[in-house]
Amino acid sequence: MKMILDERGKKYVLKPGEEFQSDFGIIKAEILDNAEIGDEVKSHLDRTFKIIKPNINDFIDIMERRCSILLKKDIGYVLAHTGLGAGCRVVDAGTGAGAIALNFGNVVGPEGRVFTYEIRQDFAEVAKKNIDNFGIENIEVKNQNIKEGIDEDNIDLIFLDLPKPFEIFEEVWDSLNVGGWLAVYAPYIDQAKLSYRIANKVGFYDIDIIELLERGLEIRQQGVRPKTRMVGHSGYLVFARKL
Ligand SMILES: C[S@@+](CC[C@H](N)C(=O)[O-])C[C@H]1O[C@@H](n2cnc3c(N)ncnc32)[C@H](O)[C@@H]1O
Repeated sequence: MKMILDERGKKYVLKPGEEFQSDFGIIKAEILDNAEIGDEVKSHLDRTFKIIKPNINDFIDIMERRCSILLKKDIGYVLAHTGLGAGCRVVDAGTGAGAIALNFGNVVGPEGRVFTYEIRQDFAEVAKKNIDNFGIENIEVKNQNIKEGIDEDNIDLIFLDLPKPFEIFEEVWDSLNVGGWLAVYAPYIDQAKLSYRIANKVGFYDIDIIELLERGLEIRQQGVRPKTRMVGHSGYLVFARKL
């Protein structure tokens, strides 16, 4: 897969055999098809574009989505907190456009497996298309309601990003390996609190609720200071371990 980057840093996916058009001009299909990763090409308006190979974050930035997707700060922390690695087996629900499912697939590698449940057929189709386009083969999209049952066992991580996740914590327990993790993303503190209490009741250990705040810095002539704009809130992360 090839991507094109304009002078502003804006990214676009290239489809083989298709002409490219943007407000920075037109580039013929044959120029793009013959261009190699790292080449620079010019549009008819003499604007410069760079051809790059998208990594997973470039791809997620531009992939089709019909609902909100998890932010990198939250995805990164789930991976780090649970120690996910090559060969692990993951259950994920709901899939949405597939942002965290793609990250799970990327981290567990060819020896691992990701089973991602999405209740809505239209969302499941978009996620499947995104995953196929990224070219990763270890993710299975299941157009199923996870609350009707988790088909898999021997799972290392079950990640739930859906309403009332605590309704299935007992099923989650049964599907997890000893040492495996439950992780929940909850936009509301009430859902996070209930998740904590019910995880405790089911018998999970190492239960934690985390909120991550990310603030960039701006470098100005007068000095360096935090940016005045930041994401005020995304969600709470609840972690619990089967031991
Ligand atoms: C906020 S989106 C998920 C975003 C996604 N986790 C990501 O990586 O960006 C929540 C998704 O959960 C799905 N969903 C809600 N209840 C579900 C259920 N019981 N089983 C499977 N999917 C469900 C919704 O259709 C929606 O696509």
